[in-house]
Amino acid sequence: MTAARAGIVIVANRGPNDFVWDGNAWVTRTATGGLVSMLTPLARQSSVAWFCCVSEPPDAQQARQGLFTTAADQTDPRLHVVPVPLPAETYHAYYGQISNEVLWMLQHHVIGRGGFEYLDKARHQAWGRYLEANARMAQAIARAGRRPRALLIQDYHLYPLPGLLRGLFPDTPILHFTHIPFPDPPVMRLIPDPWRQTILRGMLGASVVGLQTPMDVRSFLACCDEFLDVAVDASQDAVRLPDGRQICVRAYPASVDPLALRRTVRTPEVAAAQQRLDRERGDLTIIRVDRLDPSKNQQVGFLAFARLLEMRPDLCGRVRFLAFLVPSRTDLGVYRTYRDAVYGTIEDINQRYGDACGGPPVRVFYTNDREQALAAMQRCHVLLINSLQDGMNLVAKEWAVVAEEPGVLVVSETAGVAAEAADSALLISPLDVEGTARALAEALDMPLAERSARHRRFQGRVKQWSARDWLNAQLADLHVRQL
Ligand code: G6P
Repeated sequence: MTAARAGIVIVANRGPNDFVWDGNAWVTRTATGGLVSMLTPLARQSSVAWFCCVSEPPDAQQARQGLFTTAADQTDPRLHVVPVPLPAETYHAYYGQISNEVLWMLQHHVIGRGGFEYLDKARHQAWGRYLEANARMAQAIARAGRRPRALLIQDYHLYPLPGLLRGLFPDTPILHFTHIPFPDPPVMRLIPDPWRQTILRGMLGASVVGLQTPMDVRSFLACCDEFLDVAVDASQDAVRLPDGRQICVRAYPASVDPLALRRTVRTPEVAAAQQRLDRERGDLTIIRVDRLDPSKNQQVGFLAFARLLEMRPDLCGRVRFLAFLVPSRTDLGVYRTYRDAVYGTIEDINQRYGDACGGPPVRVFYTNDREQALAAMQRCHVLLINSLQDGMNLVAKEWAVVAEEPGVLVVSETAGVAAEAADSALLISPLDVEGTARALAEALDMPLAERSARHRRFQGRVKQWSARDWLNAQLADLHVRQL
């Protein structure tokens, strides 16, 4: 980072671009996802640097020095990206074995077989690598030279980092934001005490701890109260450390950029996808759009669809379920096993109801095609989001903005977005197959006037609190200039 560029520093596991090792060089690809889209407007400012992790291939030892400059040079010139290379084994342990197989699963309540099952010796060793990755990130930021104006640290990959940076930059405003649900004390007790001490103390290195919802704020404060020797002031949503430093704990619900979304749906790519999808839709169309991930609970969603066809034979041949499943973390066994199970269920349904419905009622699109997903959201009768737990779920908010057909949102009450959609969506309990099937039927039967009124209410709420508000509220709390 050159001196002139020192300013706000964003730190995330992912960069605004993904770095892919292509034979003998890092090449970049625009990353997708809420975290990146919400932070990119800030990252476009010339004084902002974005530190992210990349996995260094084992034979790239010699190129290490070059990676800092070449990878950064290849990225969007309007963004100042600093990729921090980690040895491949360290990256796998930190990102795969701890961040995704333990913390992600724990925080989304995927506990037991197919999720966070147990911690063996290998997992304890991986925890050491998780700490090492965080330490390397802290060193890279320190090596960059100047004291940052403020640090915005993202997510569960980097819980220890605020604590490490607090030691290096005692007076710098630091915000740590967790994009996924925060566990309450009984769930937090499922990891060993030294781990949760590291997580909580690391987060408290920040000046402000940011979470998605007021419920996450309550869970975080309850964990601090239960596991640490600190004073929790629940009336002020604050934690006071023994040395007198006070940390604010705040909810900043993630959101979308309505203007950018409207621009995207006007592109030729979306129009072309729209034509393709016309061939797939039924008279009535249910869709889902999510990463293929155990926490998204696709399996139960498809079982509920099968039950819908069973309880309502009149819908056979009229309703189609278009599933846009985004490949994710496929290097991890639990994700591959889950994908196979989901595919098995889909095949069963299509076999069982194919004849009665005049063709397979479930159509799967296993790809990361944002334009196609937005085209599907524009014209559907039901959007099903039945996550087991979800920090927010921005697909619901994207749908609210782009939908042309006033459809119905059927959403788990355990998704962060449920609070904002409570008076417009049909809420379901994520493991309740029967209840979800009935909610799907109710949504498909709902008269147009009611659908429109519900959709307008939710759309109005999303427009009132956009991604820019999410970011500006954090910058305001850090006392730095807003966008
Ligand atoms: C969630 C997390 C992000 C993560 C994203 C995609 O939204 O909160 O930190 O980047 O999922 O997951 P991936 O593992 O592909 O980065």
